Parts: sequence; C-alpha cells; structure tokens
Amino acid sequence: MPSLRLEAQERDTMKLTSILTKVLMALTGLAWFGFLIGHLTGNFLIYSGPEAFDAYGRGLRELLHGLVVYLTEIALAVFFITHMVMGIKTSLKNREARKQGYATSGNSGQSTLASRTMLVGGVIIAVFLVLHLYQFRMQWKHDDPSDSLWGLTVGTIAHPAIGGFYVLAMAFLGMHLSHGFGSAFQTLGIFKPTWRDGLRKAGRGLGWIIALGFASFPVWAMLTQKV
Ligand code: HEM
Repeated sequence: MPSLRLEAQERDTMKLTSILTKVLMALTGLAWFGFLIGHLTGNFLIYSGPEAFDAYGRGLRELLHGLVVYLTEIALAVFFITHMVMGIKTSLKNREARKQGYATSGNSGQSTLASRTMLVGGVIIAVFLVLHLYQFRMQWKHDDPSDSLWGLTVGTIAHPAIGGFYVLAMAFLGMHLSHGFGSAFQTLGIFKPTWRDGLRKAGRGLGWIIALGFASFPVWAMLTQKV
C-alpha cells in the first residue's frame, strides 16, 4: 500500500513538472513572439532607405541612454535559454516515450512536419541568432555617424551565401512559430475548446506571415543589390 501511494505521488510530481515546463515554454516563446513582431515592423524601414533605417537604429540604441536595449537583451537571453533548455528536455522525453510505444503529449496523434521539426528548427534558429547578433549587433558602431546600419545590413544579406542561409533559417522559423503559437495558447488554456481550431489556424498563419516578412529582406537584397 505505501509503495502504491509513493507511485501516485511520483506521478503527480511528474505531471506538475511537465505542466510547469510547458507553461514556462509557452510564456517565454510568446515573449519572443512579441519581440519578433516589433523587430519585423521596425525592419520594414529597410525599404525606406538608409536615412530612415539608420535614424530608427540610432533612436533605439539611444533610448534612455541605451538602458531599454540593454534590459531587452538581458530579458531575451533569459527567455531564450529557458525556452531552449525546456524544449530540448521535452523533445527528448517525447522521443523516449514514442520509442517505448506510448505518447506523453496530448497531440501526438496529429504529428505534422512543423511539430516534428521543433527540435532541429530550434537548433537552426539558435545558430542563426548567434551569427545574426555577431553580424549586426556587434559590428555596428552606432556612435560613429559615418557607420550606416542600413549599409551593413543590406550589404550583408545581399551576399548569396548569407542571404540564402537567412531564407533557410526563416523557413524553420515559420514552421517553429506556426506550431509553437497554437501550442502555447493550448497550454495556457486561455481559450475555450470551441476556439481551439480557430486559434491554431490563426497561429499558423501569423507564424508564416512573420517568417515571410523577415525572409523578404534577404530576398530583396539579393535581387536588387550588387555585392
Ligand atoms: C532576416 C531579417 C532580419 C534582419 C534584416 C534583421 C536585422 C537586424 C539588425 C540590423 C539588428 C541590429 C540592431 C542594432 O544593433 O541596434 C538586429 C538585432 C537583433 N535581431 Fe534581427 N534581423 C532579422 C531577423 C531576426 C530574427 C528572425 C530574429 C530572431 C529569431 C532576430 C533577432 C534579433 C535580436 C535578438 C537582435 C538584438 C536586439 C537588441 O539589441 O535589442 N532578428 N536585427
């Protein structure tokens, strides 16, 4: 009898840990989603030319003496690491469960390309992000008026190897976001069961709109700029 109670307690603890993991993943993923919408909106100024984009970049960097960018970056780094660690753990656990012939996640019956590529897509997005921050965040000297962020950005992504990798990374971002957005809302349980399909579809659409928006910059740069 005591061992049965112990087993039940163990099961409850595992269930709670799994729910907490999912909630943390959903919240950190949604925070990044919010950042991406803002980042994409600002990036559309690339199409307005160097003056507008550089003024926007400098304005952001100098907001509250750089404090806004600094705090945003710390928050994004914490969210990203939390999301990645929890995501790898969940993926490995689900893979182990599938090997043993049973499923731990409630939606394993509706496996899609997007849901199956969450781990590999996440790793590609992480590699993209390291390259991306090195290329733009570290290379641009915003306090040097002769250094143009537009010139650096467009000149970099117009290069076929870099632009091509950006487009590939955005394809994975689209899959990741399209699946993740629906899952996050499902986890947080903030919609009624009758809203479920609608929100999943909306999440899928929104994820792809964001990814296509980002992919449009390297495609445009590769087609119109000489390197
Ligand atoms: C493909 C199109 C993209 C372009 C042209 C682009 C452009 C840029 C530029 C120019 C900066 C530097 C801003 C600065 O130094 O103040 C930047 C920063 C950043 N980008 Fe992107 N970006 C793109 C996609 C993405 C994606 C898909 C992600 C995330 C998955 C991302 C995440 C970031 C982050 C975290 C920063 C640093 C933000 C900060 O310093 O506050 N970017 N991006």
